[in-house]
Amino acid sequence: MACEDLVFAVNGERFEVFSVHPSTTLLEFLRSSTPFKSSKLSCGEGGCGACIVILSKYDPVSDKVEEYSINSCLTLLCSINGCSITTSDGLGNTERGFHPIHKRFAGFHASQCGFCTPGMCISLYSALSNAHNSNPPDYLTASAAEKSISGNLCRCTGYRPIADACKSFAVDVDIEDLGFNSFWRKGESREEMLKKLPPYNPEKDLVSFPDFLKAKIKRQPNVLDQVRYHWSTPASVEELQEILATINSGGDRGLVKLVVGNTGTGYYKEVKQYGRYIDISHIPEMSMIKKDDRGIEIGAVVTISKVIEALMEEDTSGYVFKKIGIHMEKVANHFIRNSGSIGGNLVMAQSKNFPSDITTLLLAADASVHMMNAGRHERRRIGEFLVSPPIIDTTAVLLKVQIPTWTASSTTGLLFETYRAAPRPFGSALPYINAAFLAVVSHDALSRGVVVDKCRLAFGSFGGYHSIRAREVEDFLTGKLLSHSVLFDAVRLLKGIIVPSIDTSYTEYKKSLAAGFLFDFLYPLIESGCWDSERKHVDGHVVPTLSLPSLSSAQQVFENKEFQPVGEAIIKYGAEMQAAGEAVYVDDIPSLPNCLHGAFIYSTKALARIKRVGFRGNVTPVGVLAVITFKDIPQAGQNVGYISMFGTGLLFADEVTICAGQIIALVVADTQKHADLAVKLAVVEYDLKNIETPVLSVEEAVNRSSLFEVPSQYKPEPAGDVSKGMAEADRKIRSVELTLESQYFFYMETQTALALPDEDKYLVVYSSTQASEYTQAVIATCLGIPENNVRVITRRLGGGFGGKAIKSMPVATACALAAQKLQRPVRIYLNRKTDMIMVGGRHPMKITYSVGFTSDGKLTALETTMLIDAGIDVDVSPMLPKNIVNSLKKYDWGALSFDIKVCKTNRPSRTSLRAPGEVQGSYIAESIVENVACSLNMDVDVVRRINVHTYESLSKFYTEAAGEPDEYTLPLLWDKLEISSDFKRRAVSVKEFNAGNVWRKRGISRVPIVYHVKNRPTPGRVSILWDGSVVVEVAGIEMGQGLWTKVQQMVAYGLGMIKCEGSQDLLERIRLLQTDTLSMTQTSYTAGSTTSENCCEAVRLCCAILVERLKATMNEILENARSVTWDMLIQQAYAQSVDLSARTFYKPETSSADYLNYGVGASEVEVDIVTGRTEIIRSDIIYDCGRSLNPAVDLGQIEGAFVQGIGFFMNEEYTTDENGLVIQEGTWDYKIPTIDTIPKQFNVQILNSGHHKNRVLSSKASGEPPLLGAASVHCATRSAIREARKQYFSWKCVNGGDRRDDFDLGFELPVPAIMPVVKQLCGLDSVEKYLEWKTYPLK
Ligand SMILES: Cc1cc2nc3c(=O)[nH]c(=O)nc-3n(C[C@H](O)[C@H](O)[C@H](O)COP(=O)(O)OP(=O)(O)OC[C@H]3O[C@@H](n4cnc5c(N)ncnc54)[C@H](O)[C@@H]3O)c2cc1C
Ligand code: FES
Ligand code: FES
Repeated sequence: MACEDLVFAVNGERFEVFSVHPSTTLLEFLRSSTPFKSSKLSCGEGGCGACIVILSKYDPVSDKVEEYSINSCLTLLCSINGCSITTSDGLGNTERGFHPIHKRFAGFHASQCGFCTPGMCISLYSALSNAHNSNPPDYLTASAAEKSISGNLCRCTGYRPIADACKSFAVDVDIEDLGFNSFWRKGESREEMLKKLPPYNPEKDLVSFPDFLKAKIKRQPNVLDQVRYHWSTPASVEELQEILATINSGGDRGLVKLVVGNTGTGYYKEVKQYGRYIDISHIPEMSMIKKDDRGIEIGAVVTISKVIEALMEEDTSGYVFKKIGIHMEKVANHFIRNSGSIGGNLVMAQSKNFPSDITTLLLAADASVHMMNAGRHERRRIGEFLVSPPIIDTTAVLLKVQIPTWTASSTTGLLFETYRAAPRPFGSALPYINAAFLAVVSHDALSRGVVVDKCRLAFGSFGGYHSIRAREVEDFLTGKLLSHSVLFDAVRLLKGIIVPSIDTSYTEYKKSLAAGFLFDFLYPLIESGCWDSERKHVDGHVVPTLSLPSLSSAQQVFENKEFQPVGEAIIKYGAEMQAAGEAVYVDDIPSLPNCLHGAFIYSTKALARIKRVGFRGNVTPVGVLAVITFKDIPQAGQNVGYISMFGTGLLFADEVTICAGQIIALVVADTQKHADLAVKLAVVEYDLKNIETPVLSVEEAVNRSSLFEVPSQYKPEPAGDVSKGMAEADRKIRSVELTLESQYFFYMETQTALALPDEDKYLVVYSSTQASEYTQAVIATCLGIPENNVRVITRRLGGGFGGKAIKSMPVATACALAAQKLQRPVRIYLNRKTDMIMVGGRHPMKITYSVGFTSDGKLTALETTMLIDAGIDVDVSPMLPKNIVNSLKKYDWGALSFDIKVCKTNRPSRTSLRAPGEVQGSYIAESIVENVACSLNMDVDVVRRINVHTYESLSKFYTEAAGEPDEYTLPLLWDKLEISSDFKRRAVSVKEFNAGNVWRKRGISRVPIVYHVKNRPTPGRVSILWDGSVVVEVAGIEMGQGLWTKVQQMVAYGLGMIKCEGSQDLLERIRLLQTDTLSMTQTSYTAGSTTSENCCEAVRLCCAILVERLKATMNEILENARSVTWDMLIQQAYAQSVDLSARTFYKPETSSADYLNYGVGASEVEVDIVTGRTEIIRSDIIYDCGRSLNPAVDLGQIEGAFVQGIGFFMNEEYTTDENGLVIQEGTWDYKIPTIDTIPKQFNVQILNSGHHKNRVLSSKASGEPPLLGAASVHCATRSAIREARKQYFSWKCVNGGDRRDDFDLGFELPVPAIMPVVKQLCGLDSVEKYLEWKTYPLK
């Protein structure tokens, strides 16, 4: 057979690769060898969607093109031979014009930092093309549009605007329901709105398959030259058998790998490099799907998406198939299902104990597999297959799967149901446990009950080795008439069978889920005495197959015309470019040919002497050029990795490592892959002799006086006399303890830098930093060179959230050090795991408080001690006490005192994360108020309102920052939200719902936000060029918060004050420049929510100077002309040598730099008592932006912050092990909110509170404060749990088992309130308790 070159198309362009290592991924190729950079690397494990592309395959026989989305970070390059790839920049771009998807993403304000946006666009495109190419062609529905992005992560927007952009393409959407956008304004007719949407025409806007590839495919089979590519593509099972026989007899089995979609490497990261791959996806026998009366046969290489399609086909015998198909739609995400095969899943489960959903489903349905083992073909039941010797590399091949048809007789009923409890209901998260149950049931005429004739109960993913059947329970149930007591016994029996392995987390939770699922399956049969295969359950049970709810939203914003275009909701600067993926981030800057790549070796010990750093077997891994440690720091330099206003920290561990996650060395290699692999092969030998025990808790830190000093200006002030306040209290709650854990940034772009050495010890460093000036200083100090030798350039960040202020500095510094030492360009782009381990995140805390209050709910005094875990480095931690107290003070405590210690522990150093300290302080206040209300048995909403400040008490607690009385808008916001959210009526409905439902409980809650910010000095420069276009430099870094957009508007406004012809239309002629530390100095850092307004003020001052300078020229022109255009004016000014560049340094008035921001958030949630899942039914937020500089940008900040807050309060676990090493490593175990976990209804109002004389054009901050409002979700959950607990108490049984001491109503709900936590508080044994009560009620 003729052997071919690897040829494919990217965006219609032909690419031919002469030779490549077979482990090369498509993403590596796209990013390193094509100009198309829109596919981003964010997780590298199939879990985020940043890298996805469209894959098109041409079938010469049918002359048809098949098209679907795949991830490019796991897809191997050789597997796309003959295919066509489309990326977001291939859909449209600046040159050819943007695609309607790009335009609509921009117009719906659906792109902030932009790093996720190209992937989102591809997901939507894929859904549109699927609909169009389906047979018969269909249109996209709103629910499919929403679902299309359910596998994509976005950390900035909160998803609502993205959902709107997607739904704007749906046929069944009511256009009036789409959210705030730049296409139309409220009040326009539907027809007008439709006309204004960028038109989409599938015939024109879907890409076509390139003709040259069609011709190639028709000419040649899909076979690559094995010598050059080490890639075989057998075309039949016989051919595969021959290849395997040769390999296995030659003994090089371990070096060869069978591969289909290669998605398995997303979970099992490869350390070893295979020398050869056998792509089995082209074998027809293994790619077929056959259906007949007996069942369905599915070839092992069929993708999960195709399996679902086949199972869901309309077919009377397909009841079980359909249920399996519905469950499979929650396996992984759409792009993994499009490339991952059913066989790959089964082999991973069988050989490596992967927690598979599919094996559980197949076990319940009694499926079999066909295998080829050493040339022999054999069939095995799935249960036998799972326990047979593991298939490793090429030991055996799975050929196909067979699922039998299940039907009921005329007298029996067939029930099949599947379950899955996962952090995300609609996929993109492995389940805590899954289950599938099949039962044949019949009627017992005598008792009018239901008898179980036969059943198969399968459970998986619970921490056992593989999916299992609960045979004892099956045997117990078989032949039994179902009753409460039978089910009670079955459930208890089951709990003894579900035995997770020792290292499994949430063991008891998983057991209780198993019990809950069985209960859900059988209980309706007991209640109704009959069956219904459609399973219309009574009493609000767990509904096992939820469909994605359609999101709805409303936004109310005010556009302010006074300072146009400031105040207008203009589209974010460069939004279309971001959607197309043309916006350049650090990793998009093309590498020079001799560029090297770095990866960090970090410590896994909290405190230890480093004896040796080397590599496994003392062999330097392939491609490694240097291992850089503290010893490589130049003599004139210092081992410094960051500088903050509180001190400095080390770049590398020296002889002793002082925390797990500390950088020990930088491995520098020829490629990023080699550098990353080398780190996996690195060996660090530690010595613990004569090393004291590390400080790993805040209590230990206090005992050993390991504390960071808080400078006096950062010390918060107490208020009032606490002893007096306590004396006035008629009720007190004493010494309550609270714990708060950390949170990780999960910016989509991890820490990255690129350093280019130049002449004379001069370096250019591109850094993804929020603090370029500080980064410059650290690099200079480390290298022992003057700061003017270091040019740090930052164009934009793929998200920052505070994580790229201090934590970006060591990355840039190590990069610069390596570049300087090796005199070659060096780039570092941290992989997700290293990023998670090194960056630290939010500060964990322990809080103890005592609170005094009156019996009518008025607070009189709060006394608290707080121990903040700052980790090993000072970082910015000393600012935490003030931040915490600033938001704790949101209520009038009467008197307030505190003792706050910033503890130095041998744990990763914590840093600022959006609302650092403020979110903790605000939450602590809410938690206390909840307890007060509970102890008084009062409505907590009433207690809150009673204690919200009056202006007088506000002034007492906040002094000058309280501002003028009319600036205090919180009470107004509180009342407004009550009306707009229909709070009171819904609170009544919640009560009614709870009374009428056993297994679901609801809660509703509203919380105030008070957030203190400070304006900071900042420079700006505005320069007008000869042609009238304008360039602007500001200190602030654009990281998605819309800083550039606001600055652009401000410059247009400021220069517009010259009031000549054309000066009103300057917006489009303004370009923002990247920050460059040698061009703009004294830039400080971008943080604290006020950088946008500070930069705006700086450029406004520049514009005022320029306008003043231009006035003379304008007057001169007007002496001889009736009017003057902008262009004419500028040309004349140039001719007169007017200086058309102005730099200012804005210094806010000290007396008015501090101010308060206000908002209110309200949320209603529903808790599922069986699984512990919390669904946010609705959230409303009202926020005072002053006069918003850009309501679209501020709206995006409010929504995005709120959803990031939901992540903190409800979803995201970021914990450390006994060595202080971070446990979570990526998308598998760190779950930020996705489109299916945000509020189903999300309403946001921006209050225009008018004139604020000390603010920048009356504007206020929006970046961080709204995050605090997400506490409403947590408080509402607490309220729903309280209802569940009340109900639990009410189930009183004959045999005791009543209230446990710790099961009271004044419980603490931990943060984050993840499913296991919620379930535990609702009662891990709630199902047994209920059944026991039903069986043996205490009369
Ligand atoms: C982000 C993500 C989320 C996921 N979520 C879920 C989930 O929620 N539930 C769930 O059940 N699964 C989940 N999966 C697993 C997913 O289903 C599997 O990764 C996929 O099915 C593997 O198929 P593949 O074709 O890519 O296999 P590959 O990666 O190509 O192969 C996997 C392994 O199986 C071997 N192999 C493949 N086919 C055969 C064969 N026919 N005979 C012998 N050996 C073979 C390969 O050599 C390799 O060792 C997830 C995966 C990812 C990446
Ligand atoms: S980078 Fe590929 S899915 Fe995240
Ligand atoms: S815009 Fe989605 S991650 Fe930033």
